[in-house]
Amino acid sequence: MIGSEEEAAALHRKYGSDERIVSHCRMVTKVALALAEEFRRRGYEIDNKAVGVAAMLHDIGRSRVQTVRHGVEGAEIAEREGAGKKVSAIIQKHVGAGISPEEAKSLGLPDLDYIPRTLEERIVCFADKMVDGGKVRPFEEEVRRFTVKKHDVRRLLGLRERLREELGEDPEKVVFDNVK
Ligand SMILES: [Fe+2]
Repeated sequence: MIGSEEEAAALHRKYGSDERIVSHCRMVTKVALALAEEFRRRGYEIDNKAVGVAAMLHDIGRSRVQTVRHGVEGAEIAEREGAGKKVSAIIQKHVGAGISPEEAKSLGLPDLDYIPRTLEERIVCFADKMVDGGKVRPFEEEVRRFTVKKHDVRRLLGLRERLREELGEDPEKVVFDNVK
């Protein structure tokens, strides 16, 4: 049973994750927990433990594969290691700004849901988009990257917008104010 960030870190060692992936996961965890805390302060019910563990494990699938498939592989590892359904769903849905059923089909992914829907799923997905390698950087840079790669920019902007509406504040600002 994986119940803490440190157990999640131990799982990275077990699966032979690259050190760069582990430091990326650590920073995404910091960002995700800062956002979760802000939501909690504003009265939202949020499973901080699931956010922390899933953020720590979100890229563990990269120990197997470097493609977009790392989300579903990571979810499978998390589930097998007893992290639970909530954590594995967050991992499965962190890729891109979510993947539509049509895109998933054309990418050859298993027929599953890849759209982050719960607050926990959306927070980890957004937190990942705020971190490049081990560093936080402006959201605008991710928008540029999506544009260059011809990914769905509208969905990416929608991810931030919905969090902004719920929070009553720009989630990017919350990240820059709280994560060093
Ligand atoms: Fe990832």
